[in-house]
Amino acid sequence: MNTVTEIAPDGYRISTFVSQANLQFNQFLVRDDEPLLFHTGMRRLFPTVREAVAKLIDPGMIRWIGFSHFEADECGALTEWQNLAPNATAVCSLVAKSVSVDDVVAVRPAQALCDGEVLTTGKHRFQFLQTPQVPHAWDAGLLFEETQRLLLCSDLFHQNGDVEAVTESDVVGRFKDMLIEYQQGPFAN
Ligand SMILES: [Fe+2]
Ligand SMILES: [Fe+2]
Repeated sequence: MNTVTEIAPDGYRISTFVSQANLQFNQFLVRDDEPLLFHTGMRRLFPTVREAVAKLIDPGMIRWIGFSHFEADECGALTEWQNLAPNATAVCSLVAKSVSVDDVVAVRPAQALCDGEVLTTGKHRFQFLQTPQVPHAWDAGLLFEETQRLLLCSDLFHQNGDVEAVTESDVVGRFKDMLIEYQQGPFAN
């Protein structure tokens, strides 16, 4: 069901491929003194993502839950994760927190980060980049882990198919192909 790959030291991609959509839903776990999960996935994926996280750490120890923007595949299972992990706090933009997150999915108030602000989880340092221009939401942001140069993003560089966890090939071309393909369907424009 899930494929777990270490893509950086203590950084893991948990990938669930949904064949009906020809799409992967990827969550990222960074193991540290204060473990950080980037993306929860949709609520329906919660049991399977929890199972994958449990192979790496005690899921109840998750301390931070980051995500780019307010959508089901980014933070739909935040409530379930916060019920499981008593110290888990969401980290997102002030717009995401104020407009949607605290009202709809957060069990505890989210921690808003300003553009450029750094969240330290132990060995790792996550710089928040506020990006209302990408991928497609005014509340969007990215987390850039400075020590490993690991960019945590969602929907940016979107690819279809059950693609590899790590590549040294072009990803912009695949993203362009996906955009052209989507022009034929309900997600056009
Ligand atoms: Fe999304
Ligand atoms: Fe999105």
